[in-house]
Amino acid sequence: MFELIKLPYKSLAPVISDQTLSFHYGKHLQAYVDNLNKLLPGSGLDGKSLEDIVVLASEASGGLMGSIFNNAGQVLNHNLYFTQFCHFDQAKRAEKSALIAQIVKQWGSLDAFKEEFEAKGVGLFGSGWVWLAAKEDGELVILQCPGADNPICHFERSPKGEVEKSLRPLLTFDVWEHAYYLDYQNRRAAHLQALWPLVNWKVIEERYTK
Ligand SMILES: [Fe+2]
Repeated sequence: MFELIKLPYKSLAPVISDQTLSFHYGKHLQAYVDNLNKLLPGSGLDGKSLEDIVVLASEASGGLMGSIFNNAGQVLNHNLYFTQFCHFDQAKRAEKSALIAQIVKQWGSLDAFKEEFEAKGVGLFGSGWVWLAAKEDGELVILQCPGADNPICHFERSPKGEVEKSLRPLLTFDVWEHAYYLDYQNRRAAHLQALWPLVNWKVIEERYTK
């Protein structure tokens, strides 16, 4: 059985209103958790880790596995999303770190990276997620992932069938309308631009170096 994660803050207002947080976390994420728990028994995936469920179900199409993928993917995505933030009063500023050094190496500056990340989020058609992910050699990529997709699903299998060349998710902005419509209506770009002061770079760095 999976449980709703605990939030490491009480509020992210005014960037994300308490009403949006309440619906997004308490209704949407809770529903994905509940649905997943109902779908897993008898599926052959019960008892596996959330990441393994997402990876294994991502290779199936439609049916029960498709429903499990959608709900498990959305639980994983939201867990990573909600735990990467902190209230802006306590926001951990981007500091000198291996991650920031790699961002500057690839994009020239943190601002240039943010600009491309926001543009990819704005440019994603329909519902989904924009991700910063790391390859196994540490190189960074920005991915546009529709629906419940996550970078860990972008892997290859070796001739022996082992998962390899997988991508590690680091940072994500949710571009499903439920993430911003109450506060920003159709202004997705304004919402994405406003999120940066909430990003806890210490958490992103830990995901990169672990
Ligand atoms: Fe969401």
